[in-house]
Amino acid sequence: MTQTIAILGAGRVGSSLARAAVAAGYTVRVAGSGSVDKIALTAEILMPGAVPMLAADAVEGADMVILAVPLHKYPSVDVAALQGKIVIDTMNHWVPVNGPMEELDSDSRSTSEVIAEHFDGARLVKSLNHVGYHELEQDAVHEPGGERRAMGYATDDADAGEVVAELIDRLGFAPINVGPLANGRLLEPANEAFGVWLTADALQELALSKL
Ligand SMILES: NC(=O)c1ccc[n+]([C@@H]2O[C@H](COP(=O)([O-])OP(=O)(O)OC[C@H]3O[C@@H](n4cnc5c(N)ncnc54)[C@H](OP(=O)(O)O)[C@@H]3O)[C@@H](O)[C@H]2O)c1
Repeated sequence: MTQTIAILGAGRVGSSLARAAVAAGYTVRVAGSGSVDKIALTAEILMPGAVPMLAADAVEGADMVILAVPLHKYPSVDVAALQGKIVIDTMNHWVPVNGPMEELDSDSRSTSEVIAEHFDGARLVKSLNHVGYHELEQDAVHEPGGERRAMGYATDDADAGEVVAELIDRLGFAPINVGPLANGRLLEPANEAFGVWLTADALQELALSKL
């Protein structure tokens, strides 16, 4: 079972995911863009149980890495450190926040295909991005039999997808494989699954209609 998760980004999504993953029984490391001191107090107050670390230390030996940094900051993440790792891309292209991004705006592929090319050698899975940061805990359902909100994942790596599906399940959502990374588009802003509470069947149906 995958146990150690490194979350890169100690902002809204990073801290919500850190809390939720600690509650789900994972060992959680969290890193910001700089020193440990910079995030230590935030981690202590907002993410009890998660260990603040330097990004390089957090990633080393982790079973899974979550990229929870603003999309335009992806070039600041060390490519070599992610080689061979299961990496979850939570990043969305929000033009008002990120500004225009030439490499994405001039490319017809899904953002995650572009990100996967950049992080060549990483086992990329697009997920956890189409639910608001506050909903990651608010919409989680842990009671057996309770209806769960669907959380999609898109990947070209079936084994990595299964590991991420287990994480999604442990976080209290219904994991739905929406297909290859190209289909990650379905989960991006302005697309059908983005920001909408969908049942597992509804997301599955949407995904099938795009394959
Ligand atoms: N907000 C949402 O509801 C939501 C939902 C789903 C997905 N997303 C996506 O999730 C990502 C994070 O969003 P957010 O709202 O959490 O942003 P945020 O609150 O601005 O937090 C981003 C964090 O990333 C850190 N960071 C920047 N470069 C880094 C690096 N190289 N290594 C480690 N940490 C780094 C920043 O640290 P510094 O402050 O030190 O730069 C900051 O702590 C975005 O791509 C967004 O599109 C957001």
